[in-house]
Amino acid sequence: MVREATDKVDVNPFVPFPATLSRVVDLTPDVKLFTLELDNPEDEFDYKPGQFGFVSAYGSGEAPFGLTSVAYRKEGLHFAIRRVGTVTNSLHQLEPGAKVGVRGPFGNFFPMDDYKGKRIMIIGGGIGFAPLRPVITTVLDNRKDYAEVVIINGARTPQDLCFAAEFDDWAKAPNTKIELTVDAADENWKGRVALIPDVVADLKPSPENTIAVICGPPIMIRFTLQGLKKLGFGDDQIVTTLEGKMKCGLGKCFRCNVGEKYVCRDGPVFTFEQISGFIEQF
Ligand code: FES
Repeated sequence: MVREATDKVDVNPFVPFPATLSRVVDLTPDVKLFTLELDNPEDEFDYKPGQFGFVSAYGSGEAPFGLTSVAYRKEGLHFAIRRVGTVTNSLHQLEPGAKVGVRGPFGNFFPMDDYKGKRIMIIGGGIGFAPLRPVITTVLDNRKDYAEVVIINGARTPQDLCFAAEFDDWAKAPNTKIELTVDAADENWKGRVALIPDVVADLKPSPENTIAVICGPPIMIRFTLQGLKKLGFGDDQIVTTLEGKMKCGLGKCFRCNVGEKYVCRDGPVFTFEQISGFIEQF
């Protein structure tokens, strides 16, 4: 079911907005960046870093994905989507101009205003780096509002680093460092070969006036959280999005629980304080 482009009655969050793919870019061998434009300019889709939306491939269904763009730039809705199942396979077949549906935004978000004046560490692995991209964009677009930025990005191989095309721009921003790491290098690789928690342990970042924002595979999140705690980070200085744990995204499958909380209903963004008792389950 799709809301008609001319339909201006009350918005039903269960009915997708009709949208068109304006751009499809290969980020890695199995991840594409999709840009969606809403067909009806009067449809409202205002969102913040960390929130997610549902993208539907007609005939195959829909699935939840983190937004990787920022609303204020008005450059369309960006979703970095890995090919892993029926819906994502169908989306990967689509070319620019194809019609899709999109619902949202849903979930809570990173309170970027609260981070102003602080040093920001952005730590992400694999496709888990996608929901952190709007955090980077926001900080670098408002560079004077934040202190030093340290980006740590890892992946299985150099080809699996999702936003490699943007690394140079990020590295050139004032007072910004970027550390890249892979599990398995190729002959051209000049960065680190190490797991992300080991990179964090090696860099030994000071917790002073710092917020660490993390996303990636659950095991990476778990060991990174534990490593930051060992370095003295406070429970409210560590924030993670657990959106990778979501399946239905609707509060129906009960597969995204973290203790008594459900990622799709109560998150996907959590402070360490909120999940500290459950990280052994990751
Ligand atoms: S993703 Fe299904 S209940 Fe949360």
